[in-house]
Amino acid sequence: MNKTIFITGAAKRIGKAIALTFKDLGWNIIIHYNSSKKDADELANKINKDNPDTARAVQGNLDKEADIAKILNDIDGMFPSLDLLVNNASTFYPTPIEEISEDHWEKLIGSNLKGPLFLIQGLKEKLKASNGSIINITDTNLTKGVANYSIYSAAKAGLEAITKGLARELAPEIKVNAIAPGAMLEPPDVTWTEDQKNKVIESIPLNRMGSEQDIAEAVKFLAHCEYITGQVVKVDGGRSL
Ligand SMILES: NC(=O)c1ccc[n+]([C@@H]2O[C@H](COP(=O)([O-])OP(=O)(O)OC[C@H]3O[C@@H](n4cnc5c(N)ncnc54)[C@H](OP(=O)(O)O)[C@@H]3O)[C@@H](O)[C@H]2O)c1
Repeated sequence: MNKTIFITGAAKRIGKAIALTFKDLGWNIIIHYNSSKKDADELANKINKDNPDTARAVQGNLDKEADIAKILNDIDGMFPSLDLLVNNASTFYPTPIEEISEDHWEKLIGSNLKGPLFLIQGLKEKLKASNGSIINITDTNLTKGVANYSIYSAAKAGLEAITKGLARELAPEIKVNAIAPGAMLEPPDVTWTEDQKNKVIESIPLNRMGSEQDIAEAVKFLAHCEYITGQVVKVDGGRSL
């Protein structure tokens, strides 16, 4: 029986790379998206062309409790088991202290912290039944303190705290880990100048930006490791050293 991975925010970029990597392993893929319906449908079609009837797309805004309930309902019974949940979806933008509003708080905490927590709550029995695992995608920069990103950093730090707490609470049936990417891709809708890019690269011991595939390979590694739980794996070319 094929195993099943559920990836949030999987229509594009890092989530898509994870989906395609697990397609190559023969897993069933549940592609979650919020606004990128076209990309999510195209990805599901591409996967189904290679591996028939192994991919489905589900929509939902992770800020909203009702949407999370809808997602849980939609994926119930979609495939025989659920083996891996990857909380990858994220909203990311700066929030200088003078400009912070409740709306910023709701959006940044919603997608990066609240949504992942309630998805785990709703999916834990399925994951328990398969001795499955959870991988939360955080951010390697947050522990350094990043000016203008206090809410995003708090959300990702919270997600790492949830990772460790739930690794104890859900053991021994479910493993819970986090992957903290470094500088992989430019933020969506932002193009760095050569100068900005070079500055980032200078801060990375391995002397290059990462790629979406570097994260997908780490997800694959953790998915196959039976004796790692409660860890944050930094995939950042040494930037956090
Ligand atoms: N890219 C990097 O260099 C980098 C660095 C450090 C950490 N990370 C972390 O790695 C993960 C993937 O990064 P990425 O750059 O590939 O992510 P991304 O493109 O910024 O976002 C991934 C997806 O998240 C979904 N999303 C955003 N808000 C949502 C909401 N309220 N409800 C549901 N879905 C929502 C969006 O889906 P739709 O398009 O369908 O709306 C989006 O396509 C993220 O957790 C990010 O924080 C990335």
